[in-house]
Amino acid sequence: MSLIDRVVAAVTPVESEDARRQARAKARAAAGDNDWLALVLQHHEAIEMAFAAVRTTGDPVARLAAQKALALLLTGHSNAEEAVIYPALVHFGHKSRGMMGYTEQAGAKANMGELEYLDPMSQEYIDKLDHIRGAVAHHMYEEENDRFLDLKRISPAEQTRLTERFREEFDRYMGRDPSSHRSNDPRNSRLGTNAPRPQPERH
Ligand SMILES: [Fe+2]
Repeated sequence: MSLIDRVVAAVTPVESEDARRQARAKARAAAGDNDWLALVLQHHEAIEMAFAAVRTTGDPVARLAAQKALALLLTGHSNAEEAVIYPALVHFGHKSRGMMGYTEQAGAKANMGELEYLDPMSQEYIDKLDHIRGAVAHHMYEEENDRFLDLKRISPAEQTRLTERFREEFDRYMGRDPSSHRSNDPRNSRLGTNAPRPQPERH
């Protein structure tokens, strides 16, 4: 852990697991059917599972593969928030909340990059991974507990635009065609992405 990380950790209260569960339930109640907040929550749950997958691997090859999957998801999700959700927070009068999101995610990105230099089976790697996991969990708690909830009060038209733009940015990073999305298409219900597209038949 860097000196800055230690200072931040020392002044940041760590919420309980129960508080995290309550925040998620509150955010889930505020989310619409497959809207931007529902997509954010799906991403957050997938990120938690991706962290757990890295932690439980028992060999370097599997661990590096799990680390890559985590990094892909984390970067795709955070890029979409940084391009769409945080600017909306700033625009609709919550500048400090929006800017805090950028700061926290920059820290997670820097630490994920550092992970690539460490022996995946070393204690140093596990310590770094656990530190990132804790910081990301706290960041997600802040977003779910209140940081994002004020955005649910903006107009339905703005909500729709946020959903489309958030999905578009996430899909772009994940290598999927953003223009192929249709918001009522049930294939898009998981992680804001499209199911594998049918391949043309060969004759
Ligand atoms: Fe997030």
